[in-house]
Amino acid sequence: MPALPSVDSALGAIGNTPCVQLTRIVPPGCARVFLKLESLNPTGSYKDRMALSVVEEAERRNELRRGMTVVEATGGSTGSSFAFVCALKGYNFRVVSSDAFAVEKLNTMTAFGAQLDVVPSANGKITPQLIPAMRERARQISSQGSDYYYADQFSNPDVLPGYATLGREVLEQIPSRIDAFCGAIGGAGMVMGVARTLKEKWPACHVAVLEPASAPTLTKGYGGEHSVEGIGIGFPPPLLNKLWYDEARAIEEGEGRVMCRRLAKEEGLLVGTSSGLNVVAALQLAKELGPGKTVVTVGCDTGLKYVRGNLYTES
Ligand SMILES: Cc1ncc(COP(=O)(O)O)c(C=O)c1O
Repeated sequence: MPALPSVDSALGAIGNTPCVQLTRIVPPGCARVFLKLESLNPTGSYKDRMALSVVEEAERRNELRRGMTVVEATGGSTGSSFAFVCALKGYNFRVVSSDAFAVEKLNTMTAFGAQLDVVPSANGKITPQLIPAMRERARQISSQGSDYYYADQFSNPDVLPGYATLGREVLEQIPSRIDAFCGAIGGAGMVMGVARTLKEKWPACHVAVLEPASAPTLTKGYGGEHSVEGIGIGFPPPLLNKLWYDEARAIEEGEGRVMCRRLAKEEGLLVGTSSGLNVVAALQLAKELGPGKTVVTVGCDTGLKYVRGNLYTES
């Protein structure tokens, strides 16, 4: 296999991730299941794609200029990606996060030079109030002057071009028909960007958006507590567009956590909790669709971000 070309900065290492067929955990009588391994992006998650597209779209419109400060409220994956992109492009980065999220993520952001504000959580849980409180703090910071650019991932359509690229890579990697795609949603940028790209080529591709069963905002209309970082934000995200998905599905967090451990031990894939939910749903769809069909989902981030917690140690 030819080596990838050299790149002139770490920004060039974003994307072009492998798409791995899951061969050991998919039971007989099911569709094929592929996992797009986004943990191999520079900061270990697909958010690198989004941070780059948000920054470059704002630069293109001249809304983001040299000397300015980017502001964002984030559980930490998005923040790590913005901190990385801002470090390379020479912007300051003010980030609002919380102690509900992995300390590895908070430390990653500061390693790239971000200035961090921590909103305290209720016992480390992601409650329906937490993300709105973080966003409010980010809004306050960015209203301090015209030198601040609020990235606002939850309602910024500039996230979508970054994820359209992910979708185009999937279409190249799996040239045959793709029957279903699923992904857990936070701001919904990833699933919307990819689903739109897949449906343009395969209009019948069934798209499922996923949420934790204990926080069933989309499936039952009320929020709740959970511990799946990055998803289940407590309100329907503004970028979620009915045109680009067919179904909302609630997945038990416990099943997702067990799946993370199985993926590590049986497939050699170390991914985070939201990816575990994605694979649980992908296996459900693969069973429903049956042999001869193809299901795709995404490994959102690396499990290395969670090895200090209990994801890989509980049984
Ligand atoms: C680990 C992880 N998984 C899934 C998601 C959800 O992605 P999106 O916001 O594009 O819906 C996020 C978002 O922050 C995340 O950090």
